[in-house]
Amino acid sequence: MRTIAILFLAVVAGLFGAAIFNTANMTPVFEAFLGRTNNYAKCSGVTDEAEQYLCFGLPQQAAWLFAERGDAAKARAVLADMESVLRGKPVKVEKFNSGAAYSFKLHFKNGAIGLFKTYDSDRFCHDCTSAREVAAYKIDQWLGLNLVPLTIEYTADLSSVPRCVYALPKIRNSASGNDYSQCKNIKGSLQYWIESAYTAQNLGYDDSDKSQKLRLLDAILGSTDRHEKNWMISGKYQTIEVAIDNSRTFRHAKQFYTVNPIYQKVEYFTCWQRQLDKICNSPSATCSATTLKSYMDKYRSASEADIRTLLGPFTPAADVSSFLAVRPIIVSRFDHNLNLFNSPLPMDYCPDPPRKL
Ligand SMILES: Nc1ncnc2c1ncn2[C@@H]1O[C@H](COP(=O)(O)OP(=O)(O)OP(=O)(O)O)[C@@H](O)[C@H]1O
Ligand SMILES: [Mg+2]
Repeated sequence: MRTIAILFLAVVAGLFGAAIFNTANMTPVFEAFLGRTNNYAKCSGVTDEAEQYLCFGLPQQAAWLFAERGDAAKARAVLADMESVLRGKPVKVEKFNSGAAYSFKLHFKNGAIGLFKTYDSDRFCHDCTSAREVAAYKIDQWLGLNLVPLTIEYTADLSSVPRCVYALPKIRNSASGNDYSQCKNIKGSLQYWIESAYTAQNLGYDDSDKSQKLRLLDAILGSTDRHEKNWMISGKYQTIEVAIDNSRTFRHAKQFYTVNPIYQKVEYFTCWQRQLDKICNSPSATCSATTLKSYMDKYRSASEADIRTLLGPFTPAADVSSFLAVRPIIVSRFDHNLNLFNSPLPMDYCPDPPRKL
């Protein structure tokens, strides 16, 4: 009898929740996420979208929405809570099997996850340190773009991961490569894991679907790796864009393509000039470079000292210098495009690949 009553209550709560959350309007991604939670009853009275995210355990989405509405204090409070969760003791640490980076998933007791990348995590780009993940977050927050998930400097204890030594190349190659106690104080970055998000690739999106904000972020960061698995979409209405995997940034001087010596094929990077030029490339009245003005104004007017303070000692000096050096070039190109969109500037930083290899 008691079981029947509980079942009945669960069904009623589910139906009630479904009515309040108006599942008809929701994206399949968000609905699938709700299906995995049992928060319907708890959250059924919540009608505000940002509060719903909080209630369902999606604090990053909530923080971004609060910030977008101008409620900076609330956004900051949510981010502070998220950071204190990440600063707590993980209940489980596991190797995360991904592509270029040596990364680990840290699970915390309320179900939150952080993606840890070791400082020198990129197998193929040795200056692409995890310091850039942190710097990208700081720049995103400073400009108010709200695309990069909370990312902090972090020292991880990975000694509970089976065969941890083998996941850490420098330790593996050292003389005492079998000493697992060496996995205890590993420096790197920790990024809040965004639940209920799909990669652009999963959703069939391509470069043409990127928002102007994402293009501006990538131009400013000098991202060379914003392919469709490195940006994601989330939110009840699939409107929240997420920029992940930001270690291949601060690369304004990098060429747009490289020739793979083994396969003799051209491999493309994303390139800041092309992203910037796509922001305002038509005379259309809806050209939204003007709506990006507030971010640009912050970017152009900050003093060098402010930028140095923002990036802090964790960011390598060479990255800070190149970030400062490229700023006037980006600003003048943005201004040119805004006023003279029909006289394109040369792609000096992102040349076309050779016709013949
Ligand atoms: N903060 C995050 N929130 C949610 N999912 C994430 C997050 N960071 C990474 N992911 C997921 O994990 C995948 C791999 O992560 P990431 O791109 O950082 O690693 P990588 O080793 O550099 O991969 P690749 O070489 O394929 O670019 C992403 O494509 C995405 O699906
Ligand atoms: Mg990636």
